[in-house]
Amino acid sequence: MKKIVYPRAGGVETIEIVEAEDPTPARGEVCVRVHRAGVNFAELMMRQGLYGSSPDYPFTPGYETAGEVIGLGEGVDSLRKGDRVLAMTGFGGYAEKVCLDARRVVKIPDSVSFDQAAAIPVTYGTSYHMLVHLGRMVRGETVLIHHAAGGVGTAVAQICNALGASLVIGTASAPKRDFVESLGMRFVDRGEEDFVDVCKSMTGGKGVHHAIDPVGGKHLLRSYKSLRKGGKLYYFGASAAVKGNKRSRISEFRMWWGMPRFDPLKLMISNKAVFGVHMGLLEDESVFKGHLDDLSRMLSDGEIDPVIDGVWRFEEVADAQMHMHDRKNKGKVLLDFSPQ
Ligand SMILES: NC(=O)c1ccc[n+]([C@@H]2O[C@H](COP(=O)([O-])OP(=O)(O)OC[C@H]3O[C@@H](n4cnc5c(N)ncnc54)[C@H](OP(=O)(O)O)[C@@H]3O)[C@@H](O)[C@H]2O)c1
Repeated sequence: MKKIVYPRAGGVETIEIVEAEDPTPARGEVCVRVHRAGVNFAELMMRQGLYGSSPDYPFTPGYETAGEVIGLGEGVDSLRKGDRVLAMTGFGGYAEKVCLDARRVVKIPDSVSFDQAAAIPVTYGTSYHMLVHLGRMVRGETVLIHHAAGGVGTAVAQICNALGASLVIGTASAPKRDFVESLGMRFVDRGEEDFVDVCKSMTGGKGVHHAIDPVGGKHLLRSYKSLRKGGKLYYFGASAAVKGNKRSRISEFRMWWGMPRFDPLKLMISNKAVFGVHMGLLEDESVFKGHLDDLSRMLSDGEIDPVIDGVWRFEEVADAQMHMHDRKNKGKVLLDFSPQ
């Protein structure tokens, strides 16, 4: 089989495609013939050497896939060969075949395409974890999201619509205005408007109930300032540390230096909460499996329908990742690993 490898930290030009032995499932594992793999911003960061929890080089990235079951390890009776599934692989998903813990694999109905399924685990899993599991979001609440046109941003918008949010404010780069508005969000062009002011002015001066920040640095404090009393901030990314295809030590330092330190007393008197979220390091399998099962049901019922920006053959992985570096994606970027 073929798989994509990051041999060392670097730009997209370092990415290699190599021939490898077919994997065999260990006890409790499932082997999946991959048809689609999602491309996540985290995988751009781990390629640059910016992602603390990735394995040593060389390694195969790939947080999520969709495909069919081709092998079952001992003790797995929840799935059968030939089942169509989505899977939260963590690493190794950028490959024609991958074996992983059966608890991270969920069967999908025939009505759900591999494109839709591969877009679910990370982006929707993270959004659902923040707003539903941690945030207990209820009808009528208000939400701020950044990178609103991206994979997570579009997932947040759909989950907010499904939960009955009264207002979703989304920041993104200027050319994405129409797209962001088409998802029901109030668009904020970061270059033109101050998102803190917009959050306040659109909520009668109070601020939003939930602010979702994957940027970090000074930006995180501004997201916190967009909250009302009793509001919840979710911190889950460090895109401020990334500047283009190559690693930038200056951007990394600025992001780290600008990070706010939250005062527990101030949190207490304003009844605010700050959550840190890293789905790759979430250790409770039953929580994550619950999210995937719920999302799979929402997908089958049409409550969510992933927005796919484009599908690249896996040999074109560098182009797919550059598309994201260049801030061009509207929705989810996918790699096609299906047999040709
Ligand atoms: N902690 C977790 O468990 C977790 C899980 C999933 C995702 N995340 C984080 O959530 C964020 C979104 O992830 P995603 O996979 O859905 O990606 P994405 O939003 O589809 O990523 C691409 C978009 O990010 C925006 N962006 C902001 N800063 C950027 C930069 N320095 N370089 C290139 N693009 C930049 C661009 O849109 P605009 O310029 O239009 O905004 C770009 O189109 C990332 O920060 C990711 O690390 C975290």
